[in-house]
This record gives sequence, C-alpha cells and structure tokens, in this order.
Amino acid sequence: MQVFITGVSKGLGKALATEFLKLGNEVIGIGRSHSFTDKNFRFISCDLENLEHVNKLDFGKLSSSVLFVNNAGIIGEIERISEQTSSDIQSVLNANTLAPMLLCQKILKAFAPTEGLSILNISSGAGKRAIPSWASYCASKAALDIFSETIYLEEKERGRNVRIYALSPGVIDTEMQNKIRSKKTSSFSSSEAFKELKTSGELVQPELIAQKIIQLLKEAYSGEVIYSLKK
Ligand SMILES: NC(=O)c1ccc[n+]([C@@H]2O[C@H](COP(=O)([O-])OP(=O)(O)OC[C@H]3O[C@@H](n4cnc5c(N)ncnc54)[C@H](OP(=O)(O)O)[C@@H]3O)[C@@H](O)[C@H]2O)c1
Repeated sequence: MQVFITGVSKGLGKALATEFLKLGNEVIGIGRSHSFTDKNFRFISCDLENLEHVNKLDFGKLSSSVLFVNNAGIIGEIERISEQTSSDIQSVLNANTLAPMLLCQKILKAFAPTEGLSILNISSGAGKRAIPSWASYCASKAALDIFSETIYLEEKERGRNVRIYALSPGVIDTEMQNKIRSKKTSSFSSSEAFKELKTSGELVQPELIAQKIIQLLKEAYSGEVIYSLKK
C-alpha cells in the first residue's frame, strides 16, 4: 500500500510512518522536515500553512491501494481570540482545515479506481467541545469533521467506495501537549486540567495510537466517518 502522511517529523505522524514502514508499506511523508532513512520512505517538502505550496503539490495518477493521512496540525496561540492577531487565526485554519481540504480534493482527483482509497483526517475531541483559548483549533477540527462527512457522501453518490474518517485520537503525549501545559491559567483556564492529564498518566504514547489506527484500518468499514479512538 502507498501511505501518504502529513507531518512526519514528530508526534503521531512520525509514529504512524514508523509503524506503516515496519509493515512493509511505501510511505510518502509531506511536511517541513523528517528523520527517516528507510528505503521505502519518500519525502515531499511542503509548508502546510502556505496554501500556495499546498496548491503546487501534484500526485499524478494513482491506481494502487492508497491511504492518505492528514495528520499535521497545530494548536496555534493558546490565548483568548481577543488577544490574537488575524495571522494567528489564519495559520491554524490553513494548517488544520484548508490544507487537508485541498489535499483531499487532490487525492480524490488523482485516484481513479472505485475501490482502494482510504482517507484518514486526524481530528480532535476539541472539534466537538468548546475549549476557551482554543477557538481557532476547535473551529478548525469541527470544520474538518463536517467536510469529511460531506466528501464521504459525495463519493458514494459518484459510485465510489472511499473509506473516510475524521478520527479523534484522544490525548497523546506529544509536543502539542507540552505546549498546552506550558500556558498559565490566566490565559488558558483549562491549564491545570491538562497538567493533571500528564501527571496522572492519562496521555497515551503516539506509537500506541498509531497501532490502534492500523488495527481500525484492518477492520471492515461501517461508513462511520466521525470516529473516536477512545470508545
Ligand atoms: N496530541 C494530542 O493530544 C492530540 C489530541 C487530539 C488530536 N491531535 C491531532 O493529532 C495530530 C498530530 O498532533 P501531534 O500531537 O502529533 O502534534 P506534534 O507533535 O506537534 O506534531 C505535529 C506535526 O505536524 C507538523 N506540522 C505542523 N505545522 C506544519 C506545517 N505548517 N507544515 C507542515 N507540517 C506541519 C509538524 O512538523 P514540524 O516539525 O515541521 O512543525 C509535526 O510533524 C494533529 O492534527 C493534532 O491536532 C493531537
């Protein structure tokens, strides 16, 4: 299988790429940097906050079994929206929503067969639950959820059997959580709750989440687009 993954330098994306390579897949990482040396790994350099870069990507014609993972994401500035600049808002929406939407569009156009394409958009529980100081992040993931549901229905209308998920992975022990814990309560009211997740051992290692995702992809697809790994 050809597996495209955005954001493979660290965190969940790196763990997913590692697990898919172990299983003998061809992995194509897309992002700003990586540390892979495996012969089955290829890298496409792209800053996903820059939509001109994203628009230039060309996947040609894809005909074998393909999984496309929109993993790269940013939490952005953890501040109330009244304290943010317009470019803070724009960066989050570009990286978390517009880039994945454009990449989904490109991959749906590039993949011709009616079977064999899976799209995994990494969403978040924050797309279903408002968290003060994360307004852009929450909105970016909520938009990704409804976008994923809509394109699933569109592909069905076209007679194509595309497996699509907007998957909430649960809380993962990555740099994103380090950044969240570094904020003071004065600008982020849930700060203590997120520190507690770390001290009580509730953050899951990215390798375990990657393995759970691979297991999910082996199972029959129910058409449940909005999916939480926590259930
Ligand atoms: N961690 C959690 O608890 C949690 C919970 C729910 C959902 N998620 C979601 O899971 C996904 C992975 O998050 P993570 O926790 O693994 O985060 P992470 O450790 O911060 O890694 C994020 C990845 O995205 C890449 N990325 C960020 N901005 C980019 C850009 N402009 N262009 C290209 N690549 C970019 C980063 O690459 P660089 O090294 O170039 O920055 C990195 O590889 C995200 O979509 C996140 O929203 C995470």
